[in-house]
Amino acid sequence: MNLLSAAILPLRLHHPDGSTPVIVGEGALSSVLPELEDWLARRAAFLVTTPRVHALHGDRLEVLCRAAAKWVILEVEEGEGAKTVSTAERLWNEMLDAGGKRDSRVIALGGGSVGDLAGFAAGCFLRGIEFVQIPTTLLAQVDAAIGGKTGVDLPGGKNTVGLFHHPWMVVGDTAVLSTLPREELRSGLVEVIKMAALLDPDLFGLVEEELDLLLEGDAAALGPVVAAAAAAKIAVVERDPTEKGERRLLNFGHTLGHAIESACGYAGLRHGEAVGYGILFALRLARRRGLISQVAARIHHLIRRLELPRLPELSAEGLMAGMARDKKARESGLVWVLPRSLGEGWMTDGIPEHEVRGELADFLRDPLRRPV
Ligand SMILES: NC(=O)c1ccc[n+]([C@@H]2O[C@H](COP(=O)([O-])OP(=O)(O)OC[C@H]3O[C@@H](n4cnc5c(N)ncnc54)[C@H](O)[C@@H]3O)[C@@H](O)[C@H]2O)c1
Repeated sequence: MNLLSAAILPLRLHHPDGSTPVIVGEGALSSVLPELEDWLARRAAFLVTTPRVHALHGDRLEVLCRAAAKWVILEVEEGEGAKTVSTAERLWNEMLDAGGKRDSRVIALGGGSVGDLAGFAAGCFLRGIEFVQIPTTLLAQVDAAIGGKTGVDLPGGKNTVGLFHHPWMVVGDTAVLSTLPREELRSGLVEVIKMAALLDPDLFGLVEEELDLLLEGDAAALGPVVAAAAAAKIAVVERDPTEKGERRLLNFGHTLGHAIESACGYAGLRHGEAVGYGILFALRLARRRGLISQVAARIHHLIRRLELPRLPELSAEGLMAGMARDKKARESGLVWVLPRSLGEGWMTDGIPEHEVRGELADFLRDPLRRPV
């Protein structure tokens, strides 16, 4: 590895298939271009990206385009619409037609949806070829690009087809976040706050201090936050690579968040914004189970400072049905991830349905009210 500046942190994720360098910080991409050039030399490279991200940041990869024997740009739709079996099939056909082989390379340049799709396409093509994640959203830099989970959606549910396929490298360059709309930064910050609240109190304090700069996409302020959040995610994934236990802590706010997204038809509210409301609700359940009010108020206040868009009118019964359908519902009941204190989380499937229903009806009357 070449010499890295102080703003760039080289992390590493150890997993059952080996280990993946995770290079984060402002300027991370230019710092690893020589390694990526070697990785691509004399091989066909397939760049999976969206027209928008390619127009904004594609020129950063020009030197890689020259290093590869063949450089094929595979553009896909923006957002969740890209994560379909038919898009993956199109990519496989285009890769095959362009002479893709077992030693060909895939590069994902985009948000979590591009990374999930490209990782899935690379993981299945000729039984798996190497790929690199260059995440361009905050959410993808701290969460989606790290941990090897890839996949696409079926009409009946999100992320229902997929596989674990770890990238060869993850490059989270915070410089690319300067073009990200504020709403996308907010959505990613919810995931940062989620990890900080359950895993890293220092990170929580940093986000409290720097929130205004973070919401402006300030690359220097985002650097340490992305690094700490990525490190927190790496630590959890290393302890639980296949999401059988502790990794499920990352679902804080997601039990209700997913049901809200689904009830809104995946439109209107972004994923992170729905999870933000899910966190506010989980704080109420946590308060009833011993979370002290100062900690609940701190988490609540930080989420409120994000100024989430208004929650649409939703019925408690509809959301209860949505949660029951969610793949996280186990036979024994819904699994809730709750904070026990700042930096410590736990999971329970033992909250009675009538309690959840009653709390939810109250929550929907005034979702932003501080938990008592
Ligand atoms: N694999 C995992 O472990 C994991 C974890 C969390 C989320 N996810 C998945 O991630 C996806 C959500 O990812 P996301 O929040 O990054 O959304 P996204 O990929 O849909 O991107 C959001 C929007 O930002 C735009 N964009 C991306 N980078 C940009 C940039 N630098 N400047 C301007 N615009 C830019 C995109 O074109 C898109 O319109 C979901 O499909 C979710 O299931 C996966």
